[in-house]
Amino acid sequence: MIRPPRNPFRPGVGLQPEYLAGRDAPIAQFRRVLEGTPDIPGNARITGLRGVGKTVLLKRLQEVAEEMGFATIATELEPRHCDEVTFHALLTRQATELAKRLSTMERVRQAAAEAVNALRRMATVTFEGFEWSLAGDLDRATHDVAALLLEVTEAALKAEKRGLVLFFDEAQVLVDDKSATGSHPLSSLIAAVSTLQKQGVPISLVLCGLPTLAVNLLSARTYSERMFRGFKVDSLGFEDASKAFTEPLASAGTITADPDLVTRVVSDVEGYPYFIQLWGAELWDAANDAGTPQINVAVLDAIEDRIHERLDLDFYEPRVESLTPAEQDLLLASAQCTYPPLAVAELNDASTKSNDNVNVLLGRLVKANVLYRPRKGQYLYTAPKFREYLQRRTEQA
Ligand SMILES: Nc1ncnc2c1ncn2[C@@H]1O[C@H](COP(=O)(O)OP(=O)(O)OP(=O)(O)O)[C@@H](O)[C@H]1O
Ligand SMILES: [Mg+2]
Repeated sequence: MIRPPRNPFRPGVGLQPEYLAGRDAPIAQFRRVLEGTPDIPGNARITGLRGVGKTVLLKRLQEVAEEMGFATIATELEPRHCDEVTFHALLTRQATELAKRLSTMERVRQAAAEAVNALRRMATVTFEGFEWSLAGDLDRATHDVAALLLEVTEAALKAEKRGLVLFFDEAQVLVDDKSATGSHPLSSLIAAVSTLQKQGVPISLVLCGLPTLAVNLLSARTYSERMFRGFKVDSLGFEDASKAFTEPLASAGTITADPDLVTRVVSDVEGYPYFIQLWGAELWDAANDAGTPQINVAVLDAIEDRIHERLDLDFYEPRVESLTPAEQDLLLASAQCTYPPLAVAELNDASTKSNDNVNVLLGRLVKANVLYRPRKGQYLYTAPKFREYLQRRTEQA
């Protein structure tokens, strides 16, 4: 049996595309940031909308760090990690695994938790011949994180690495509790890394997530803004978006696309990487089904509805199906408002709910990462072209 050629497009979550378009500049910049460490502490904050290519870029940056000789720890955070205890348990596990991978000294190979306990009792720590205080004015949680990170960085150095780079994806889930007794996982992490960096410890922090992350960082620590090099992952410009579409076709080598079609796809999807992969995958299948080696605008016209159905099912619906009916109602009402941004005043008029209720629901939609609040009274959707999706839903209803 002759198998049909493999579809060269990769619509999905964090799936490495055949061709990584338009990210040479941030990759080069990141390399420079790491190159300057530890003399200039190098941390990065990567933000962008859903499906714009953050995870894929983050994985590439991790490879870059490893190529440069750094040890790395990469984690995709989940909402439960917002709790300090769970977050610390995760860090400990990751640290232990890395220490094992580096297979250095016996002391390091022991459970990292033991090391933390030992360090907790010490007022000072020796690092590269210097003795410095861990205790200082650090609170307990921050101290524990700093001690753990110091331990792994030492393990990395002993394994002849240049230092340690920590990568956290979906980092918008780390939110500090406003009460003094609550969890402060984000502040602890930042303070721990900053303390170590001030002592010249070669450690770097890369936080990646939805634009909410930038907002959270601002409220976590006043100095956090200056601590991170900001990278905004955005939709691709025309040329890069075209390449994201044509390069996978070229590498597969069996199907070509009309220039008109390329222009139309790029403009329909506004250069958003996930959409390019999805449109490409569907067009590829359609061409194969029809047995044609050339795809054109007519093929796209014929399957456009099907593409939108898959888009809604795969990309948008998983984000709204866990919401309550009231939250979903408010989202549908928001599609009648002008955008961007979504103004609360206008939403209050468009919704049948009381202003107080609207406010509560907006707060919950932010927590669910469907919206974020760039400034007071204004909201933005975290997924691109989300308003069009809501309008399609309204039409269907
Ligand atoms: N630079 C790029 N060129 C081509 N395709 C890309 C590029 N970046 C991402 N993609 C594709 O876009 C899709 C989404 O990528 P990715 O999962 O990295 O996005 P994300 O921003 O992490 O999304 P989310 O916010 O949902 O986690 C994947 O199918 C991936 O293959
Ligand atoms: Mg991602």
